[in-house]
Amino acid sequence: MTQFTRRAVLAAGSAAIGLASVSARAAPPATPLKTLAAAKGIGFGTALSASHLADPAYMAIVRHECASLVAENEHKMYTIIPTADQENYAPADALRDFAVANGLRMRGHTLLWHHPRWMPAWLNETTFTDGRAAEAFLGPYIDRVAGRYAPFIYSWDVINETVDDATGALRETSLSRAMGHSVIDFCFHRARAAAPTATLAYNDYMSWESGSAAHRRGVLKLLEGLRARNVPIDALGIQSHSNYDMPDEFTPAKQRAWREFCDAVVGMGLKIYLTEFDVNDTRLSAGKRHRDRLIASYTKDYLDIMFSYDAVEDLMMWGMIDKYSWLQDFLPRTDDVEKRPTLYDSNYAPKPMREAVAAALAGAPARSSMQVG
Ligand code: G3I
Repeated sequence: MTQFTRRAVLAAGSAAIGLASVSARAAPPATPLKTLAAAKGIGFGTALSASHLADPAYMAIVRHECASLVAENEHKMYTIIPTADQENYAPADALRDFAVANGLRMRGHTLLWHHPRWMPAWLNETTFTDGRAAEAFLGPYIDRVAGRYAPFIYSWDVINETVDDATGALRETSLSRAMGHSVIDFCFHRARAAAPTATLAYNDYMSWESGSAAHRRGVLKLLEGLRARNVPIDALGIQSHSNYDMPDEFTPAKQRAWREFCDAVVGMGLKIYLTEFDVNDTRLSAGKRHRDRLIASYTKDYLDIMFSYDAVEDLMMWGMIDKYSWLQDFLPRTDDVEKRPTLYDSNYAPKPMREAVAAALAGAPARSSMQVG
């Protein structure tokens, strides 16, 4: 992106540093991000774990900034059916109750994380006699989960991360061994029937980063197949984790390749949801100001590109407070310094990244969907 964009972000970032230093528990900034987003027809929210509900300072920030929630882990199959004879909706229900009580909308993540690493162990160890036997398990499961939260959940990640990031091939599981890859189509059809008012998404972490080309190709191939077979899919969830390449590595060449991918998705008539935004700083030097500046600059550049697509209708953060971010444990820093991947630091103060999101939302064109109806 342009130098102008970077300078604008740096200016915004400096303002936010001032705000953050006022006090460790400063009041959140006046204009909520959800308000800036709604003015453009964009939804803004965050992932939340049920355990976070017990943190009142965090919940005050969520109530102030967010219009929607997504469960970080509570709708995953390994949470809902940890063993073959046990169902556990309590943590997902707690998040739903919080959302209802506070007038928040909710996305669903995810009906099937079609990756053996994240399926319940008992399901990985199950050998279904044939496709019908697998369907007899999976169909009623989708009915129960999607049906339980319908029509409240406005969008589901029906399938998460089934494309192998190294090869672009579809992953194999105990379900695909019985059903073939029609397991993907089956889930979308079943979700449409169980939650007819929800938009249905395929969600994955393909990105602009080095080494993601095969992943991007695999996802496009999957989406093209779904479209060709008239499978009811409405959106691609672009997770938007920046994990391996650091924020200052978002080069013009990588941006071009990324735009080609987004152009292809939009060309298929799909909506785009940015479902899990955060920024990893594993290899950046430790200084907070340095990291915050690069993260904010990247955030603005990335969101400027994404909001230039009218198809982008949602921005979800993958957590709003640094200390709770999954990135503290993933690709850890070697110096034990806390990472700064989210909008608020661990003392609940807003950071330059928050101002970068605000600036990107303020500069985004209004979605054409706002004029409908
Ligand atoms: O709750 C248990 C706790 O009882 C236990 O003591 C502890 C010991 O490891 O584990 C806790 O569970 C962890 C859980 O997060 C809750 O913190 C799991 O080990 C851990 O694997 C799980 O990680 C989650 C991960 O998905 C796998 O489900 C992360 O919180 C969550 O942020 C992450 O989210 C994913 C998205 O679903 C898909 N896209 C990528 C994204 C980041 O990996």
